[in-house]
Amino acid sequence: MNKKLSILTVCTFGVFGSMSAQHQPQLGKSPINEIISAMTIDEKVALLVGFGDEDTPDSIPSATIGFTKKIVPGAAGITRAIPRLDIPSIVLADGPAGLRIDPRRPGTDSTFYCTHFPVATSLASTWNAPLVKSVGNAIGNETLEYGVDILLAPATNIMRNPLCGRNFEYYSEDPILAGKLTSAMIQGIQQNGVGTSLKHFALNNQETNRTGNNVLVSPYVMRELYLKPFEIAIRESTPWTVMSSYNKVNGEYASENSLLLDSILRRQWGYKGLVMTDWFGGQDAVKQTIAGNDLLMPGLKKQYKVLKDAVDNGKLSTHILDRSVQRILELIIKTPRFQQYDYTNTVDLVANARTSRMAAAEGMVLLKNDNLTLPLDKSQTSRIALFGISSYDFIPGGTGSGDVNRAYTISLAEGLKQAGFQWNEKLAELYDTYIKKETDALPERQFDDPVQRIAEMELSDTLIQAQASCQDMAVITIGRISGEFHDRNITDDFLLSQTEQKLIENVCTAFHQKGKKVTVILNTCGVLETSSWKEQPDAILVAWLAGQEGGNAVADILTGTVTPSGKLPMTWPVNYEDVPSASNFPLAGHKESIDSTRYEEGLFVGYRYYDTFDKPVSYPFGYGLSYTTFDYGNLSIEKKEDVVEISCRIINSGNKAGKEVVQVYVSFPDKNEDYPTKELKGFAKTQILQPGETETVTVHIPLSYLKRYDETAGCWKLPQGTFRFFVNSSVEDCRLTGKYNL
Ligand code: BGC
Repeated sequence: MNKKLSILTVCTFGVFGSMSAQHQPQLGKSPINEIISAMTIDEKVALLVGFGDEDTPDSIPSATIGFTKKIVPGAAGITRAIPRLDIPSIVLADGPAGLRIDPRRPGTDSTFYCTHFPVATSLASTWNAPLVKSVGNAIGNETLEYGVDILLAPATNIMRNPLCGRNFEYYSEDPILAGKLTSAMIQGIQQNGVGTSLKHFALNNQETNRTGNNVLVSPYVMRELYLKPFEIAIRESTPWTVMSSYNKVNGEYASENSLLLDSILRRQWGYKGLVMTDWFGGQDAVKQTIAGNDLLMPGLKKQYKVLKDAVDNGKLSTHILDRSVQRILELIIKTPRFQQYDYTNTVDLVANARTSRMAAAEGMVLLKNDNLTLPLDKSQTSRIALFGISSYDFIPGGTGSGDVNRAYTISLAEGLKQAGFQWNEKLAELYDTYIKKETDALPERQFDDPVQRIAEMELSDTLIQAQASCQDMAVITIGRISGEFHDRNITDDFLLSQTEQKLIENVCTAFHQKGKKVTVILNTCGVLETSSWKEQPDAILVAWLAGQEGGNAVADILTGTVTPSGKLPMTWPVNYEDVPSASNFPLAGHKESIDSTRYEEGLFVGYRYYDTFDKPVSYPFGYGLSYTTFDYGNLSIEKKEDVVEISCRIINSGNKAGKEVVQVYVSFPDKNEDYPTKELKGFAKTQILQPGETETVTVHIPLSYLKRYDETAGCWKLPQGTFRFFVNSSVEDCRLTGKYNL
């Protein structure tokens, strides 16, 4: 970062700009304690409250997104400037799948599009930390060049239940997978000299009543599962900021919770950065500040007043106030805006689209591939009957703050065409007309309205039969979208709708009668019920919400340009009722009455439950097929200082090039009914291995990952005895085992 920005821009937006800059200490030139001593109480309080509604009437709750038009239109917020001390406003913008700003600005024809990368769930399915870091690097560069200082990402809450509306923004049901990839994302973004905001800290695992829900959870489960990805990210990647979540945790709002923000985050994990609220989060500004929440975003006039009164009447000490001021100033000093970086408003959308496509393809998970249906042999199957509205209207990402204003989205139809396939024009026209008509009839959606997607189109048997006669194969896409503010439903969402079921059934029957194959693509924000229909198609590919290059990335997998190597970052259960939190997750019908959610299933979330209690699943955690096969051998387990090193040799024993994910699960020595049978403690991915090629893979497991939280003693302890290590290809597919006495 070496370009300089005109000082004018820096100092324009402030409320305390009138005093002369002469003889004042200047941020960056004078020590921070001198700046703090020179600040008035008004200035200090103002710095703690984002510049949210300065010119908004009190009656209008400032829009969550896009309100702050002043510096970077479409950013989520800015802080206040104090020009006399050379303190600029800094800019904060979403989010996890790419930078979210307005693509157009008044007074110019220039556009400000950002790259829509695959959502976090898709990135998690790559199990590839260097790749996630490279995506982070590209997002960080767009953040920097569009003049944003802090990206409000990544989000790393545990996927407790498949219906959580924001799961697509999150990484996994497993804390090690989530923590490691979140760290990689933070490192990638921050290497550009911009900051991140690790969110939503903590236990924000549902959208229903998200600003009031009280999570009731034991200290043991909280530490072992829900806080773990945050702890790993804090310790291994040092995000510049953390965003406290909306919900309460054991009776206290997360943003007012000193156990979370002070004892755990700062004292135990050693975090030195700043904590900000989620937008309008929490209720008591004084309590928030005392608990260690430094910045209130986007900032309301009434919060300023409450804090000011509290300082005046002694309820908020200047010591606490200065503590937050100091953290905010330390953050500002690091930002591109303070360092007068002359951002270009130009980003390399072409190169970043390539990164997006590569990551999207690597995140796709092949669930089924009978009789080598895939990859497609173009000489035999060049004519495709493309069914399902989502084939033509491919979903790139979720809604809400996790959405990205991209320049385009490549649909599956376009992706297949560019890959040299032909699809039936008549069928395409039918879909296009239907999609246009139905979409036009939808009511205009407000930012926080539930996502409405048009229903699947019904097709006559005759039409399907005709397609089966003239096309070489069928591809059906099933689409699901979700987003902020609302959780998903069971009917017509987790479960396929009747029209979708009929479509799969009729297409499979008609094509199979002609000896032709059917592939189902799941363009989904998350988990779907599959066991009732998965026997019918020949192949099933989970494409997730794969970003703006989604259609091209699916084509890369279908043609075999990329061998699938994605693995599920969460379990796909047989029925929704099998989900361990099904009985205490709010469902449609009683949504508004929920004021607390008891995490009764304890640590038995996801595979920790299914694996321990031998509950059959549709597709297990860590599962995913390849076009090739891998053999495992030569296991070695060694302890080197405070790390256990697990090495093994992977050989590509099939006849296509591909990558393998090596997953190391651990069983603990002492039998304890609170412990799952085994838990993921490390993983690694090979390079692309050619047929016959081998690679020795080493997985490093820090001893701290093998400690258990002792609730009575209030600390982590390393159990003594023999640990069993399972080197697997999914949680259910064990390839090598070994023991080690610690
Ligand atoms: C979301 C955050 C987001 C913020 C700012 C909130 O509604 O929960 O994830 O960063 O808005 O847009």
